Amino acid sequence: MALKAASQQGSSTPPRHVAIIMDGNGRWATERGWPRLVGHRRGAERVKQIVKAAPEMGVNWLTVYAFSTENWKRSTEEVLGLMKIFRRYIEREADGLSAEGVRMRFIGGREQLDPKLRALMTGIEARTAGNTRLNLTVAINYGGRDEITRAATRLAAKIAAGQVENPTEADFADCLDTAGHPDPDLVIRTSGETRTSNFLPFQSAYAEYEFSPTLWPDFSPDHLAEVLDRFGMRDRRFGGV
Ligand code: IPE
Ligand code: IPE
Ligand code: MG
Repeated sequence: MALKAASQQGSSTPPRHVAIIMDGNGRWATERGWPRLVGHRRGAERVKQIVKAAPEMGVNWLTVYAFSTENWKRSTEEVLGLMKIFRRYIEREADGLSAEGVRMRFIGGREQLDPKLRALMTGIEARTAGNTRLNLTVAINYGGRDEITRAATRLAAKIAAGQVENPTEADFADCLDTAGHPDPDLVIRTSGETRTSNFLPFQSAYAEYEFSPTLWPDFSPDHLAEVLDRFGMRDRRFGGV
């Protein structure tokens, strides 16, 4: 373990898995006197750029927080507008993502989502399942506590069925929506808020955090490169010395 920690010191290896809390769309629009949905549309444009740039910077896993289990509290107009943006993103990006070697997946509870959106989600997951250049995971109707609660239910069922006897951390992780995904190395939150808002609490136990003051619609590939550079300077000890 000590050897592993030592070899990581001062390393400039890019993080394998970057997770982003894309925050600040509403403020970006409000500052300009525009409806919040304009900010969300700009935010979706940013996602496209970051998805293109991330693998060029050596990132192999990218997870983005698009809609939380708490975001249903917003106005019907905003919620429906966001759902429309998600549908359009999948419809319009499907060809490009496939061509760029992106494997797209979703985490979060699906039952509450519109059947049309759900069908698009399942469709693109199947269509891109063979891609390996970038693993893109979009969190929609995602909440860490909700995910943990659902995982506990799944694990209980496995125990009851005799498939698992003395559950380990790995058995639990296998019941999360992110089963099979590596843990995030770096979690970025934009817009200056310094909280995690129910994003990947189990998976990010040892992640590094970066809080950027930039609002998401302004967060460019250059901003990402800057954050990744700083990540390379960090000394991750994982409890060692
Ligand atoms: C993030 O931007 C996108 C979602 C939560 C869907 P916000 O909509 O939270 O933007 P602010 O925080 O109000 O500026
Ligand atoms: C977190 O942002 C959720 C997403 C980015 C999708 P919020 O804007 O919903 O979080 P709070 O309300 O500021 O904690
Ligand atoms: Mg916000």
